Amino acid sequence: MGYRTAYLTILAHLFFVVILWGQQSGSIPQVEALLQKMTLEEKIGQLNLLTPGGGVATGAVVSKNVEVKIKAGQVGGIFGVAGPERVRMAQKLAVENTRLKIPLLIGSDVIHGYKTTYPLPLGLSCSWDMELIQQAARMAATEATADGIMWNFSPMVDIARDPRWGRIAEGAGEDPYLGSKIVEAMVKGYQGENLSAPNTMLACVKHVALYGAPEAGRDYHSVDMGKVKMFNQYLPPYKAAIDAGVSSAMTSFNDIDGIPASGNKWLLTDLLRKRWGFDGFVVSDYTSVNEMIAHGLGDLQEVSVLALKAGLDMDMVGEGFLTTFKKSVEEGKVTEEEITNACRRVLEAKYISGLLDDPYRYSDKERPKKDILTKENRKLARKLATRSFVLLKNHDEILPLKKDAKIALVGPLVDNQNNMLGTWAPTGETKLAITILEGFKSVAPKAIITYAKGANISDDPEFAKKVNVFGERITIDERSPEIMLQEAVEVAKSSDVVVAVIGEATEMSGEAASRTDISIPESQKKLIRALVATNKPVALVLMSGRPLTIPEEFGMPVAILQVWHPGVEAGNAIADVVFGDYNPSGKLTTTWPRSVGQIPIYHSAKNTGRPAPENKFQKFKSNYLDSENTPLIPFGHGLSYTSFEYTDLKLNKSEISQGESIQATVTLKNTGNFDGEEVVQLYLQDMVRTITPPKRQLKGFKKVILKKGESKQVSITLSANDLKFYNSNLEFVSEPGEFKIYVGTDSNATLSVSFTLK
Ligand code: NOJ
Repeated sequence: MGYRTAYLTILAHLFFVVILWGQQSGSIPQVEALLQKMTLEEKIGQLNLLTPGGGVATGAVVSKNVEVKIKAGQVGGIFGVAGPERVRMAQKLAVENTRLKIPLLIGSDVIHGYKTTYPLPLGLSCSWDMELIQQAARMAATEATADGIMWNFSPMVDIARDPRWGRIAEGAGEDPYLGSKIVEAMVKGYQGENLSAPNTMLACVKHVALYGAPEAGRDYHSVDMGKVKMFNQYLPPYKAAIDAGVSSAMTSFNDIDGIPASGNKWLLTDLLRKRWGFDGFVVSDYTSVNEMIAHGLGDLQEVSVLALKAGLDMDMVGEGFLTTFKKSVEEGKVTEEEITNACRRVLEAKYISGLLDDPYRYSDKERPKKDILTKENRKLARKLATRSFVLLKNHDEILPLKKDAKIALVGPLVDNQNNMLGTWAPTGETKLAITILEGFKSVAPKAIITYAKGANISDDPEFAKKVNVFGERITIDERSPEIMLQEAVEVAKSSDVVVAVIGEATEMSGEAASRTDISIPESQKKLIRALVATNKPVALVLMSGRPLTIPEEFGMPVAILQVWHPGVEAGNAIADVVFGDYNPSGKLTTTWPRSVGQIPIYHSAKNTGRPAPENKFQKFKSNYLDSENTPLIPFGHGLSYTSFEYTDLKLNKSEISQGESIQATVTLKNTGNFDGEEVVQLYLQDMVRTITPPKRQLKGFKKVILKKGESKQVSITLSANDLKFYNSNLEFVSEPGEFKIYVGTDSNATLSVSFTLK
C-alpha cells in the first residue's frame, strides 16, 4: 500500500469513528443544543405521535385537531399522511409555526411494499432468499420515501406458532434462526448504508415482545412464557434487529409476566437497553399506553408514568403523555430528566434521518413519478411472488400445465382484484392488482380458458360482514351456491384440466382476524369435492395469510400450490409458476397442523420424557387418542417440478473445541426433468445438555440452483454461536458433548452425521 492509500484509509476510518461516535445516544451536539433550549412542554410535544386519519385507521381512535396541535408544538410525529406535497404541508405547519422549528417524523406501515405491493411477509419468508428479501425492503423504502415517509413500522418479527392468530401473516413464521436472518435483511434493506439519504428510512422492529404468542391465538390476548423459552425461541429476532442497527422499536399490546409491554421496565430497559444495548427510540403501539387502563393498571396519568419510567419514549395516538406529564412533573411522579431522555431519543432519530438539517428532505415532488410503481418494481414484485409460492403436493405431476391446454379456471379468487394484495397493505391499491384470470390469459394466450366462480369465499353473511371492514373482500353472489357449483362442474367436465383458486379473503387473516377454525370455508370445500369428483386433473391454487388445516384436500389426488396473498402481480406470478416459466422453490416457514387441536405445533418441539413411537398410539406415551403427533406438512417442506437427491453428508472435523466452527458438506443432485432451485436445510440436535433440548433446530440453509442432471457439493458452516443456547441462568453458552446434524429437504431430514464439542 502506498503512502497516499494508507493515508486515505486512515482518514476514512477516522471519519466512520467520528460518525459512529457522533451517533451514540447523548452525544449529538445539535440535539443537545436543541434540548438546552426546549421548555418542558416542547419536550413533551416531541413524545406525541398522532394520525389524522384519512388513511387506514388501525385502531378504534383517530386523532383530533392534528393541525392545531402541530402548530402548538404538541406533536413529534404523524402517520397516515403521504405524498410529497402533503408531507411538505405538514412539515411547514411544524417548522413555520413552532418556536424551535423541529420537523415531524412521518411514519407508515410499509409491511410488504409501498405501492408496489409484494407478497405477505409470511409468503416472502418462504423464499429463504435473503438477498431478495433485502431487495424487496429496499424497493419499499425507495417508494415510501419518494412519497414523503421516512419511518417504517416494519419489520414485524414476532415468532408465531399458532396459526389461529391472524397476524402470523405479517411475520416470518415459527423459527427464530430463519426469522433473525430475515429481520437482518429487512433492516439493511430499509435503512441502507446512510439513514440521511433521501431514499432510506428508519426501520422499527415490532412488536416488542412476544406478540405472536397470545393465549389461544386470540389477538391482543395475554402471553405467559418462561424466560428460557423466551430467550431461546421468541426473543432472537428482536435482538437480531437491534444487532443489525434498527433505529426504533414498537412495543406490543400484550402483557408479559403480568405487565403490559408498554409499561414493562424489565423488557424496555433491562433487556432492550441494558442487555442488548439498544440506543434507538421506543414507540408504543396504537393507544397501547391507554390500554393499560383496561389491562387493570390504573388511570391515564398512572399508566403514562409507568410507560415513561419503563423506557417508552413516544406515545402512539393515545395522548396520555401529552395530557398528563406536566401534572406528573409537578406532582413529582416523573422527573423532567426522564422526559428529556425520551425526547433526546426522538430528536436523535430526526437527526439521523437528516430532518434537522433539511425538514423537506423527503418532499421532492418529482420523485413519485420516477420511483413509484415503476416497471422494474413491478417486475421485482412478480419475481418475489413466484419465489414465495410453495408446491405442497403435485399428484401425477399435474403441474406445470401446457400453455395450450383447455383449462377450467374456477373459484371465488380467480377474478377478484380485492383479494390479491393481502392484509396490511394500507398503502397499496387493489385496483392495480393483476387477477388470476388476467395473468393466465397474458402468460398462456393460446390456452382455452373458461372461467366460473363456483362458490363464494364464504356463504355466511355475518362472517362476511366482519371480514369486509376495509372494503368488500367477501361478496356473496346473487346466484344460489348450487347454481354456481353446477356451472363450475360443467365447465370442468368440458376441459382438460381444472385450476381452482380458493382459500382465504385477505382480511380473513391479519390484525384482529383470529380464527378458531382454520380450514377452507365449507362453501369452497364443497366446490373442491365436486371438481375432484369429475375425475379431471385438479390443481388447487391455495391463497391464505396463514397455514390452514387441509387434511381432506391434502389427501385428494390433486396438486396444491400455496400462494399466500401474492401482491400486485398476483395473477402474472401464479401463471408463471402454473405454466412452468418458473419452477417453484418455496419452502414452508411454518408447520401445517392436521387439526387445530395440535396447535401449537412446530419443528423444534421437545422430545418429552415419554416420546411416542411414530404414528402408533401407545398408552402412557405423549400422544393423542384421536390424532397422530406429526403435522400434516412439516416445516421446511416445498416441492419442485424436478426432484433432488441428497447423498454423502460429511463434516470437516469430528471434534471441535469451544469457539470453533464446523462445516457440513452434502452432495445434491437434480435427478428430475427440470432445472430447479433447492433450499438445503441443516438441523442440529444437541444430544445432552443441562436444559432439555429441542428435538432439532434449524441452524443453517443455502439456496442452490441446479440444472437438470447437475450435481453440486453444498457446504454449510456452523459457527460457535450456532451451538449456543440460553441456559437456566440465561447465559448464552455451549456445553460439551455430542451433537447430531441432519441435512435435507425439510425438517424431517434423515441424512445425519455426528460430532463432539470438547
Ligand atoms: C397497530 C399495529 O399493531 C401496528 O403494527 C401498527 O404499526 C400500528 N397499528 C400503526 O398502524
